[in-house]
Amino acid sequence: MRSSLTGTARRRRSPERADPRSPEVRDRTASRQNGPERRTAMTYRVGVIGGGQLARMMIAPAVELGLEIRVLAEQKGMAAALAATAVGDYRDADTVLAFARDVDVVTFDHEHVPQDVLRALVDAGVAVHPGPDALRYAQDKLLMRTRLQEMGMPQPDWAAVTGPDELGAFLDAHGGRAVVKTPRGGYDGKGVRVVSTPDGAADWFTALAEDAGGGALLVEELVDFTRELAQQVARTPSGAVRAYPVVETVQRDGVCAEVLAPAPGASARLAAAAAEVGERIAEGLGVTGMLAVELFETADDRILVNELAMRPHNSGHWSQDGAVTGQFEQHLRAVLDLPLGDTSPVAPWSVMINILGGPAAGGLSERFAPAMAQHPAARIHTYGKEPRPGRKVGHVTAFGEDLDDVVYDARAAAAFFQD
Ligand SMILES: Nc1ncnc2c1ncn2[C@@H]1O[C@H](COP(=O)(O)OP(=O)(O)O)[C@@H](O)[C@H]1O
Ligand SMILES: [Mg+2]
Repeated sequence: MRSSLTGTARRRRSPERADPRSPEVRDRTASRQNGPERRTAMTYRVGVIGGGQLARMMIAPAVELGLEIRVLAEQKGMAAALAATAVGDYRDADTVLAFARDVDVVTFDHEHVPQDVLRALVDAGVAVHPGPDALRYAQDKLLMRTRLQEMGMPQPDWAAVTGPDELGAFLDAHGGRAVVKTPRGGYDGKGVRVVSTPDGAADWFTALAEDAGGGALLVEELVDFTRELAQQVARTPSGAVRAYPVVETVQRDGVCAEVLAPAPGASARLAAAAAEVGERIAEGLGVTGMLAVELFETADDRILVNELAMRPHNSGHWSQDGAVTGQFEQHLRAVLDLPLGDTSPVAPWSVMINILGGPAAGGLSERFAPAMAQHPAARIHTYGKEPRPGRKVGHVTAFGEDLDDVVYDARAAAAFFQD
């Protein structure tokens, strides 16, 4: 990996900055020059850690703007392999520092880069967006709950529980059912479980006990929500903030299946409340880049924060086609501290349908011709991933004037890619 990058790193470093006798000093000096404001190269270079579809979808707007994207992927052949891709372990500080030396800003496809690695980058003078102080709230749901409570944000009742007795007490106080979550490492519903007895999380408590660091599980009241929403906000290092319209998200088996933008029937009051929650969290936590706030809407017309993601998010894929500025371009603008783009929808309604699993036999591209013939207005996105049950391999977006028509068009076009 290093061999593919260091040549360019050497070229970009001016001789007076490089000190060949001291690699440590040289690294720090070189990377301090890496902020966009000190840029001397022809264009901005964005380094993305993680090679999944979110990194992949940053490539298209980067090409349009004439930015360079470099990706540090977990393995060969990942979705983002279209860009200059290094393969390496994002948990290894030396690997990540070597990757970062050659770019103007480091950002992420996922939130799993450990805090010590992130701090090593910051200490080396690398521009990291979002930075470790913000990202830890997306990495750890217990930290997030604690911080949002301090900020007075609306959220479900919750507690940190270290064993079955504490979980039992929470269940007794909340009608006998609750949602238990592993604070770290969960996604797509993995690490989320509805329980009605303390035994329901016995294996997770055992795992906690075996973990040298110990710790706690997060337990939340089982929210009787009427629907799930998501609020996206972009924030730049200079503090500019811009919200997207609040959207409705539909989860199946813990995985995002559909997104309707804006959330149908959302009152102006609800939309403003969601935007305010998003903006306050972005500012309060010092988020840079895209922030997604997953929300529950309740029957009594409240919104509660479910969780946070500090990167482009599945709930914002609609904006690639359905907004003046898509979330992937917005993320690039934000992490480079450029002026943010207009987040207005280009049509009254946009609907995004995930392609989950894909065809049982054959590739996605075999379905292009019939889908495109039947649905010429649908926007088809595939991620270069092998179809596998439940896997997110692509999405389809449609937009237009009539919500029913748009829902039909998006679902029918997406159906061509699933058996
Ligand atoms: N407190 C809760 N009450 C009811 N449903 C919940 C609660 N927390 C999570 N869920 C459901 O589980 C899904 C996944 O939970 P989430 O915390 O967002 O985990 P993940 O990190 O896997 O996305 C949510 O989208 C929602 O459908
Ligand atoms: Mg979630």
